[in-house]
Amino acid sequence: MPRFRTLDDFDLAGKRVLLRADLNVPIKDGKVTDATRIERLAPTIAALLAGNAIVIVLSHFGRPKGPDPSQSLQPLVEPLSRAVGRPVRFATDCIGPAAQEVVGSLKPGEIALLENLRFHKGEEANDPDFARALAELGDLYVDDAFSAAHRAHASIAALAHLRPAAAGKLMQAELDALGAALDTPQRPVMALVGGAKVSTKLDLLKFMTGKVDCLAIGGAMANTFLFAQGKPVGRSLCERELADTAREILAGAAERGCDILLPEDAVTAEKLEPGVVTRTVGIGAVPATAMILDVGPQTVARVGNALAQSRTLVWNGPVGAFETPPFDRATIAIAKKVAELSRAGTLLSVAGGGDTVAALAAAGVTEQLSYVSTAGGAFLEWLEGRELPGVAALAAA
Ligand code: 3PG
Ligand code: MG
Repeated sequence: MPRFRTLDDFDLAGKRVLLRADLNVPIKDGKVTDATRIERLAPTIAALLAGNAIVIVLSHFGRPKGPDPSQSLQPLVEPLSRAVGRPVRFATDCIGPAAQEVVGSLKPGEIALLENLRFHKGEEANDPDFARALAELGDLYVDDAFSAAHRAHASIAALAHLRPAAAGKLMQAELDALGAALDTPQRPVMALVGGAKVSTKLDLLKFMTGKVDCLAIGGAMANTFLFAQGKPVGRSLCERELADTAREILAGAAERGCDILLPEDAVTAEKLEPGVVTRTVGIGAVPATAMILDVGPQTVARVGNALAQSRTLVWNGPVGAFETPPFDRATIAIAKKVAELSRAGTLLSVAGGGDTVAALAAAGVTEQLSYVSTAGGAFLEWLEGRELPGVAALAAA
């Protein structure tokens, strides 16, 4: 884990702090539908305000191709203000006169949110001039956007080198949790990886087999492995063209002493529809007309045993088509088992990714895991063993 500065290394009083946040939260009809990222950012803001800093919040939102009112950060002012318990001012641009005027009017202990960084092309281009225009607004830089750390954008990469830079509390918590799970873990370490496609998680699977003692694979991506082993998969989602790759991953795992757990039984149906008639079968007996839509109870029990023998778990991806009940059953049962072992203190559990977080919420156990990341793409890239530009920039700053 690279070393970097934290808020404790800064004398904050009267300083203008550029705080890179990730306020890329889901919004429907102008209302935030999941405020997790805002709530998890609030302690950093509280610490900065308590230190009498002037707080200038920078964030992207959506993927606009230029200024676009439908992608404005304005709707975030009210939720952010509620989370920090202070009024939040808003600047209609993140650089230039509009930003300077708002920032110039702030007193120590006050806070402003600047308009969407991605309204400027320079953000995604990591443009040094755009980074300099941002830097002019502040004295110090704090990055609390772990979930955007996989983007080498100006407010994440270039800006970190233009002002004294530190990790915020959320960034620190994310890096500590991921470090505890993968860099210096208590063994045995288990990874549970699910999701629809092997193709999107090839690098992750390869990296994991070199890191963990046991890798359990579920979701439709397990079908590709079963197919590669000559098992019938019926009409299941399956990337047949990746059979060789799947066999290579299995061989690599065997060489590196990583046990692979594949489904032993499956819940199948003729269609993916809520409440459809299902048949649970052994993995060698999937009917030609059926689809595998969840792992079966024997597999859940086997995963449960492996979890009970593990000290550390990294989890990304549901093991079934969990948005469509009853194919959420195994994912929810496993989530509850993970929660139980985490509560008992025998398992350090770290989970991340949009679908995984939704599954944990559906199981009602989000608060019971050791750590649930706010990141999607950044969490995946970390699990691929890749250097995240946002983390690298802090370490080098
Ligand atoms: C996310 O929501 O995953 C981050 O905010 C990154 O967003 P992006 O994928 O649009 O870069
Ligand atoms: Mg994303």
